[in-house]
Amino acid sequence: MIYLDNNATTAMAPAVFDAMEPYLRESYGNPSSTHPLGQHARQAMEEARYSVANLVGCHTSEIIFTSGGTEADNAAICGVLLSRPDKHTVITSSVEHSAVRETLHVWSKRGIRVIEIPVDLGGHLDMNRLADAMGDPDIALASIMWANNETGVLFDIPQIAALCRDHRVPLHVDAVQAAGKVTLAVSRLPIDLLSISAHKFHGPKGVGALYVRRNTRWMPTITGGPQERDRRGGTENVPGIVGMGKAAQLALEKLQNPANDQYLRQLRDMLEARILSTIPDTHINGDRACRLTNTSNIGFTSIEAEAILLLLAQHDIYASAGAACSSGSLEPSPVLRAMDIPDRIAHGSVRFSLSTANTRAEITTVATQLSDIISTLRETLPVV
Ligand SMILES: Cc1ncc(COP(=O)(O)O)c(C=O)c1O
Repeated sequence: MIYLDNNATTAMAPAVFDAMEPYLRESYGNPSSTHPLGQHARQAMEEARYSVANLVGCHTSEIIFTSGGTEADNAAICGVLLSRPDKHTVITSSVEHSAVRETLHVWSKRGIRVIEIPVDLGGHLDMNRLADAMGDPDIALASIMWANNETGVLFDIPQIAALCRDHRVPLHVDAVQAAGKVTLAVSRLPIDLLSISAHKFHGPKGVGALYVRRNTRWMPTITGGPQERDRRGGTENVPGIVGMGKAAQLALEKLQNPANDQYLRQLRDMLEARILSTIPDTHINGDRACRLTNTSNIGFTSIEAEAILLLLAQHDIYASAGAACSSGSLEPSPVLRAMDIPDRIAHGSVRFSLSTANTRAEITTVATQLSDIISTLRETLPVV
């Protein structure tokens, strides 16, 4: 199998599995119990919090464990809006993940005004429009992602955060795709809330974290217990949290060694160079210079991405497309649509997302297979 779908999820690191195992077996205590079995679980959870706080670059008391990125995004948005009933407007981008986009859509039905800042063809946020929108005194929150899950394009979060601070607008950053790939260091940036998810950096699924800066106006939305310092009720997912802690520690170590990023960049550039030089009418979606090094979104003109993925899967090569099959017709991804990528490219766009476990030999195989697949599809199933 050649796995190039790491933005969807990653393989769990063996050391993460090993760290979790005792908490699924003998160390099963409830961290709220005062006996040694419970306290052992609590200690492991607090050690994990320390590692996650290190990855985010914040204090341990600012980390709240959640069930993943979607819950962290929900908790950030709902928690700020509920605590600021005097403000009725949220600023966001036109390319957010559905965890943010759909949550804001629900709020828009409850009377909240949502201002979507557009992006250009390269996927970059219109900073002038953002600055104009900030002038409105009714803004409760800005929720803007760090790295795009489909194109890998990075928003200029330091500049966005500075703008928010100047206008006293709280900022939530969906950093689910950025964590473990770029340095977050929130203590050095005026970011108020930030979401991450363990399974995107070789941790387990179903566990994530929300960073809430001290003194941020925010209130819990999951009530019913004193866990997480009264900020998220419910018995904690101890094995998952321990796994997230180990994954965060490994991710930080990897991040601190530039050789990892260089290797990923080489692999991605090799994949793109081979595809662009051997397959006509192909396009890289998103600004090539300002992207995550592991992500390549490539549009193959006049073909359906689903057909490409199907044939790739027959060769045990796994990637994905932003296109979703809704009511029988394939809709291009909302992200590519927001970037104004023409339909004939967007329909045939495939996301390849790499990890350091990939090899040059795999990239060569993928490029060779793709060349055959694309010419077959263009001959047999052209889309006009
Ligand atoms: C940018 C972004 N935000 C949020 C999420 C949701 O995270 P989770 O799968 O942990 O709920 C994802 C997952 O793909 C993502 O890419």
